[in-house]
Amino acid sequence: MIKLAAEDFQRFSAFVYEQCGINLTPSKRIMLEARLQKRLIALNMSSFKEYYKHVTSLQGKEELVHMLDSVATNKTDFFREPRHFEFIKNTVVPEFRQSNSQRSLRIWSSACSTGEEPYTTAMVLQETIDEVGPLDYEILATDISIKVLKEAANGVYREDRITDIPENLRRKYLLRSKDPQKGLVRVVPLLRKKVSYQRMNLMDREYKINTIQDVILCRNVLIYFDKQTQQRVITKLIQCLKPGGYLLIGHSESLFEMHLPLKQLMPTTFQKTV
Ligand SMILES: C[S@@+](CC[C@H](N)C(=O)[O-])C[C@H]1O[C@@H](n2cnc3c(N)ncnc32)[C@H](O)[C@@H]1O
Repeated sequence: MIKLAAEDFQRFSAFVYEQCGINLTPSKRIMLEARLQKRLIALNMSSFKEYYKHVTSLQGKEELVHMLDSVATNKTDFFREPRHFEFIKNTVVPEFRQSNSQRSLRIWSSACSTGEEPYTTAMVLQETIDEVGPLDYEILATDISIKVLKEAANGVYREDRITDIPENLRRKYLLRSKDPQKGLVRVVPLLRKKVSYQRMNLMDREYKINTIQDVILCRNVLIYFDKQTQQRVITKLIQCLKPGGYLLIGHSESLFEMHLPLKQLMPTTFQKTV
């Protein structure tokens, strides 16, 4: 096993920070060593120095995507932090219906991981259609990792991953694999069609989103950034939000002392004021 020396770790962590804003503290050295080890093996390289030289070079652009894939933490769940989905159902949708808007309701899951967040949103919106009547909606789902984006677009999950989905929604929106031994389910095409996926780095100078959003979910990703990066990310996200639109962040995240044009409605729910 190849060891990641402290000085190499420092160089990698500075590079990761510059590329995707993730702040790797020294306690993450063993984790990074284990994850990058796999990349060294895949590329038949024998030292972290050689790998660093490659991944920071022009020819290493493709490898950079793999490196960032292996650094990011992708933990997610269906109906994670359920109050946000209740808020979408009970506040966002009724307001949108009342506005008699001619366009569709737009929701952006800006660090979507393997898709549980956008599909939960789609299930909740689809349910309001069954309960109240037609609603046009579109969900944009983005993440820095192409690995998770592929899984999300595929929409296939192990059965042990779906326990937080209410039984009636499981029956409506998930299809069981023909081979029960596999223990897999797939999100129904109706919902998969409603979500479009795109690779996007929240560190990008500006976000290439063509449409103004009604709601932006930016949950459980800010936690990996330092305060300065968080403020920059949120400032750019708000530019993609309509006045009066909503920003939802993770329960362990905060916008304390950021002085942004946002009104706090609940601990992790904000409304754009201008
Ligand atoms: C812990 S998951 C959160 C998933 C989901 N939002 C939730 O709350 O369950 C964090 C996600 O952020 C993504 N991520 C990390 N840095 C990013 C960046 N700079 N730009 C976009 N996505 C990033 C990771 O790839 C990962 O999928």
